[in-house]
Amino acid sequence: MIESPQFANLHLVDHPLVQHKLTIMRQKTTPVSQFRSLLAEIGMLMGYEITRDLPLVRCSIETPVAATEGVKLATAAPAVIPVLRAGLGMTEGLLQLIPDAVVGHIGVYRDESTRQPKEYLVRLPEIKDRYFLVVDPMLATGGSAVHAIDVLIQGGVAKNRIRFMCLVAAPEGVAFFHQQHPDIPIITASLDECLNAKAYIVPGLGDAGDRIFGT
Ligand code: PRP
Ligand code: URA
Repeated sequence: MIESPQFANLHLVDHPLVQHKLTIMRQKTTPVSQFRSLLAEIGMLMGYEITRDLPLVRCSIETPVAATEGVKLATAAPAVIPVLRAGLGMTEGLLQLIPDAVVGHIGVYRDESTRQPKEYLVRLPEIKDRYFLVVDPMLATGGSAVHAIDVLIQGGVAKNRIRFMCLVAAPEGVAFFHQQHPDIPIITASLDECLNAKAYIVPGLGDAGDRIFGT
């Protein structure tokens, strides 16, 4: 993982397998089934990075041979929070990595005339001391991601327990996110060039939700 020279809270996953898979996903000829499975695979690979700094505590165990000390996660099982719909595509891979994670949902769609996020569903797990891993493949204007983070904070989740993971980010969206939540890490596989006139990411990969669900 490399740190972005532009934004203090942006971390880029430069792993060759992630970059290889992302390139296939970007191609307009990639069919729905392959797009969906690649997104799940990348979700799992990026999961290593978003969970890299989860705290551990020591614990005593007995192997078949001897008593010894091991480690385990110090906090309650993490919560994966997909931003619907497209965030669901990254959730599957994360759950393979963290099978006992709990899942909350934040339903938001971007109003294509105003570009503002419209919320239609919020279902969150108990907060406890867990980490909240918010996932959405696309960070375009940043409106949807910032809205999802605001929902968590208003619901009582501590800022230092939140991380945001996306596949592709636009500089405009990262700047907005950084302005609103400078201390919340963004983990992405690519910082793309810009937004176009319709606020789509360039070069991007098109409409992620449509490409995952075939709509
Ligand atoms: C897409 C994407 C993000 C949002 C990004 O969702 O999955 O949630 O757009 O754009 P923004 O950064 O400008 O807010 P969309 O609104 O298309 O909904 P969908 O996932 O249901 O297709
Ligand atoms: N939402 C998407 O799915 N893709 C974009 O490029 C921008 C917003």
